[in-house]
Amino acid sequence: MYRTRDCGELRLGDVGREVTLAGWVQSLRKFGSISFVDLRDRYGITQLLLGEALNEKLAVTPLGREFVIQATGIVSERSSKNPQIPTGEIEIKVSQFNILNKSATPPFTIQDDTDGGDELRMKFRYLDLRRNEVKKNLELRYEINRAARNYLFEHRFMEIETPFLIKSTPEGARDFVVPSRMNPGQFYALPQSPQTFKQLLMVSGYDRYYQVVKCFRDEDLRADRQPEFTQIDCEMSFVEQDDILLMFEGLIKFIFREVIKLDYTETVERMSWEDAVWNYGNDKPDIRFGMKISNIKSPLKRKGALEADGHIISKGEFKVFDQAETVLAIAVPEGASWTRKQFDELTEWVKRPQIGMQGLVYIRYQEDSTLKSSIDKFYSEERLKSIAVFCNAKKGDAILLLAGREERTRKAISELRLEMGEQLGLRKPDEFKLLWVLDFPLFEYSAEDNRWVARHHPFTAPKPDQIKLMIDNDPNIPNPDDYLQHPYADIKANAYDMVLNGNEVGGGSIRIYQRELQEKMFDALGMSREEANHKFGFLLGAFEYGAPPHGGIAFGFDRLCAILGGSESIRDFIAFPKNNSGRDVMLDAPATIDRKQLDELSIQIKN
Ligand code: AMO
Repeated sequence: MYRTRDCGELRLGDVGREVTLAGWVQSLRKFGSISFVDLRDRYGITQLLLGEALNEKLAVTPLGREFVIQATGIVSERSSKNPQIPTGEIEIKVSQFNILNKSATPPFTIQDDTDGGDELRMKFRYLDLRRNEVKKNLELRYEINRAARNYLFEHRFMEIETPFLIKSTPEGARDFVVPSRMNPGQFYALPQSPQTFKQLLMVSGYDRYYQVVKCFRDEDLRADRQPEFTQIDCEMSFVEQDDILLMFEGLIKFIFREVIKLDYTETVERMSWEDAVWNYGNDKPDIRFGMKISNIKSPLKRKGALEADGHIISKGEFKVFDQAETVLAIAVPEGASWTRKQFDELTEWVKRPQIGMQGLVYIRYQEDSTLKSSIDKFYSEERLKSIAVFCNAKKGDAILLLAGREERTRKAISELRLEMGEQLGLRKPDEFKLLWVLDFPLFEYSAEDNRWVARHHPFTAPKPDQIKLMIDNDPNIPNPDDYLQHPYADIKANAYDMVLNGNEVGGGSIRIYQRELQEKMFDALGMSREEANHKFGFLLGAFEYGAPPHGGIAFGFDRLCAILGGSESIRDFIAFPKNNSGRDVMLDAPATIDRKQLDELSIQIKN
């Protein structure tokens, strides 16, 4: 037997017992004629005490960091205890130890604060995974996985695997493709999600499906995106939007309770996509704090949208605002006391290429009720006051204003709001706020192709009362500059996203389940009947054999783990992740393949 106990479990109550432990040498300290070894395994660290005789053995067969050893001895009370670790009150007086395997000197120290840079840790990921920090993340991941499965099992969902070698599924990214040796010149695509399969399973009558499943998307990577990632993918039959929302907010609340011991008793807030964009500048608002955007001027079609018409600002006063398509503002608490330097720094911040603004206008609403601004030359104090009132600013606030093109300005103010929330400590990692964003537009306009594209995916149903709008109108866009006037721009989807602390953790929709409507949808997306049949004939065919009404959702499992683990990056929660260029630096993949393999696949590489 290699071991009788593990390195995390021994306590004072075990004193006097003989035990055998096995693990890795975390550290070795010599004190005169005795030595201490910190022995580590998955469960913890236990101190070994090697007395004089064994110390002499060490002179002949030295131990090093990360050696794998086995040690037998008696559990004893320590004279100097370590309250930092659970086993800190005991140590093992070793009577015998064996080296099971040696280790080369690791390229970085395997401890919480490691000296290894990112790339190095990725290259030696199997060593990085020994670190407590990383292990904690994988444990959390496993707990969330287990809780999700328990909840779904309790609610009679059935896990069904679907294939990886398939035909393209449109989820808005590029496909990874796999050549077929047996079918020269033909390729499989790896699934961007199991979307069409789960819908087919509904047609087959498996009315509650789920799968913890890998998805593959060839897209630009960010902290919250990997080329292969995991979804908790779900689908249900005979449901309406509300059934899905309740079932799956239930899932997340259950995970909160089981895994992070958080009783989320509040009702999950629901917000329309329009409100999200209007008030927060994006479709995944962080609602842990307010600081809503004030729309001083915007071309968005929206009740209550004000033009620069003298209510707040008048034409002819300040050219920058007159010429801007959009002027947006936020009122930031405590900002009135910021120094000139702080405002200058913020101005530089919004001018960074990622934010892309020309500048920043600010107004200080001072405690003595006076107002001072960077545009005093153009606006009277009375005018500044009316802006402050419009922005719901309080004494002591700074009002920050951005002006420019609608899309960029809205994105920029949304980033600025998040940055301010961050700086003011309003985005606490241990506070969780769930939100459903609803009523997304069904279509987005693609200027590149002058056609409509599905905002979610082409299987999403329009809101029932808007199906007619889709059927009755021609999808053609005669005047690209005026696409917003097209009836399709107003059609809302029966789709929903779950947002957690400003991150999209899940998304789904009620699906189309009739062949005619699905065909109409493909028409709307500019797909010919022939192309639709070629790509999705199997689904259209299935809809002819009794497809039930159905809908579903998929959660980004890696994202959920990262947020619950208090991290920005999903990489930390994946055992073997890829880097930002999509490379596995440990395997050195992707890599070239040899000529023989290429020939077998009938593939020639273009130089
Ligand atoms: P969607 O494309 O919105 O929907 O994906 C669902 C969720 O998956 C996560 N996600 C990602 N996580 C890490 N890396 C990526 N590259 C990545 N892309 C997406 C997000 C997202 O909310 N088939 C539909 C679901 C449905 O309609 O039921 C789908 O895949 O958290």
